[in-house]
Amino acid sequence: MTADSLPIIRVAYESISFEPQAQVLAEKLCLPIQVDTDTYGNSFDYLLEFTQQGLALRPSADKGYGSIICDFAGSEHSHRRRYGGGNGQAIAKAVGVSGKFAPQVLDLTAGLGGDGFVLASLGCNVCMLERNPIVHSLLADGLSRGIEAARQELEQGDDELSSVINRLSLLEGNAANYLSDLVSRITQVEPQAQVEEELDTAVWRPDVVYVDPMFPLRKKSAKVKKQMQAFHAIVGTDPDADQLLANALIAAKYRVVVKRPTGAGFLDETKPNYSLEGKSTRYDIYALKKLPG
Ligand SMILES: C[S@@+](CC[C@H](N)C(=O)[O-])C[C@H]1O[C@@H](n2cnc3c(N)ncnc32)[C@H](O)[C@@H]1O
Repeated sequence: MTADSLPIIRVAYESISFEPQAQVLAEKLCLPIQVDTDTYGNSFDYLLEFTQQGLALRPSADKGYGSIICDFAGSEHSHRRRYGGGNGQAIAKAVGVSGKFAPQVLDLTAGLGGDGFVLASLGCNVCMLERNPIVHSLLADGLSRGIEAARQELEQGDDELSSVINRLSLLEGNAANYLSDLVSRITQVEPQAQVEEELDTAVWRPDVVYVDPMFPLRKKSAKVKKQMQAFHAIVGTDPDADQLLANALIAAKYRVVVKRPTGAGFLDETKPNYSLEGKSTRYDIYALKKLPG
């Protein structure tokens, strides 16, 4: 991660009932607890605040950014789930979802789980990795509230959210380390495997590895959503993302998919087999093997 200067972040809680959770998180992240949460004239940049809606990243008033909260049961995700375009959307074509096949996806750069959730709603099992501890906390909180909302909907006979959320899992850590462990297990077993099925039985390998690293904000930043600006201030850019590609290509069974802004260069300056280009986003596809189905 690189950021211009590290923001000052404090943990806070809206009501006293959240104090125990706030203390656990403050200890885990080695951040102080802020008792006076008035965001005017205070000496912090962001509050990581336990609220009735969930864990929120709330910028101080002078930033003019919006709060960030991960809400899988909220209207934005529900709308995308219902009317997002199903297997016709570019992300579905990029990872190779079809009526007959929904790949198991390893999402190396989970962020707030937006793409992971879309892929899970298309039927993919998605294992998400996130290294930024603040982003991981927001996503973990969103996931556990999503599971609870799904449980309540299931009690009312609606299993839609539950089938999606149950396909998501989350790990905290650096994807580079995860990949190098996976690759060393693959390279240990590979020479002894007579056929590919033997390798697949010995080591779990994702069908598709998905990578969406942070990219510098575009110049037309007035158009960038306020929440996006806050997210960038916390995470910075991911200048080490190039290093993920070589091992991702060894770990994936069928393909590696890299999401880039249109006009951006290729990851690790490596040309993909083909790209799917949208208005603001491009998916670069590194195809390794024909997809089943
Ligand atoms: C652009 S955001 C991903 C957005 C996500 N696709 C979504 O739809 O919400 C990139 C995220 O990847 C994380 N990240 C970048 N490099 C990583 C790495 N090597 N390991 C784990 N997480 C990483 C960053 O911390 C950031 O949260």
